[in-house]
Amino acid sequence: MITLKNIQKTYGDLRAVHDVSLTIDEGSIYGIIGRSGAGKSTLLRLASLLEKPDAGEIYFASRRVDALSGSALLRERRKMGMIFQNFNLFASRDVSGNIAYPLEIAGFSKKMIKTRVEELLELVNIADKRRSRLRDLSGGQKQRVAIARALAAEPDILFCDEATSALDPQTTREVLSLIKDLQRKLRLTVLMITHQMEVIRAVCANVAVMEAGAIAEEGAVDAVFANPQSKAAKEMLHAG
Ligand SMILES: Nc1ncnc2c1ncn2[C@@H]1O[C@H](COP(=O)(O)OP(=O)(O)OP(=O)(O)O)[C@@H](O)[C@H]1O
Ligand SMILES: [Mg+2]
Repeated sequence: MITLKNIQKTYGDLRAVHDVSLTIDEGSIYGIIGRSGAGKSTLLRLASLLEKPDAGEIYFASRRVDALSGSALLRERRKMGMIFQNFNLFASRDVSGNIAYPLEIAGFSKKMIKTRVEELLELVNIADKRRSRLRDLSGGQKQRVAIARALAAEPDILFCDEATSALDPQTTREVLSLIKDLQRKLRLTVLMITHQMEVIRAVCANVAVMEAGAIAEEGAVDAVFANPQSKAAKEMLHAG
């Protein structure tokens, strides 16, 4: 379980995240939707401990994690994977090399890495591309590689920032279905940031609608979309 309590983050006089509190159940997919500039990526960087909040508390299960540094921070960071809109893969490495990267950093033996990379290639269904260069892959294939790399070190939490926003509708559905399958199979807790309603509908159990750094509305996806209360949620529904 991930708990955010009264999280604040300002950049100069801009309140990027303002008094956000929410709870993400273990083993669930939680969506955060909002327009460009709403503060979604900032919130994801805070929840993934890449940045520290100016105020508020973050808990993973019952462990307070927002003020960690050094090896304690690294330990928490190793238990999470991240994927992004632009994939953030290494152009200089082939598919297997990209997936191997976090395992090399973690100091696994060559033999272990080889076995694990094969497992991961199968897991995301891209084994036929093991030696391909990135520039020879489609967007959907690149995101599969990024997912395999994110899951290489067996994280508990997967953070997704607009993971399907660069993909066409059919590929989006395929990647979302893969994420959902992996979430079930590996019992992952997933935080999914998006500006696309269909992403929330396809995979999320709960959703928070973010506007101007704050949560405008939050709850079960069905309930929020069937009967939106906030202006922000109504606007997202009309847009989607
Ligand atoms: N490092 C930073 N320094 C200064 N301002 C920042 C920084 N990061 C984010 N911001 C500002 O904080 C606000 C929220 O940005 P954020 O990237 O979190 O929005 P977002 O909801 O992810 O938008 P998008 O859908 O376009 O990705 C924006 O006004 C942005 O310009
Ligand atoms: Mg963003």
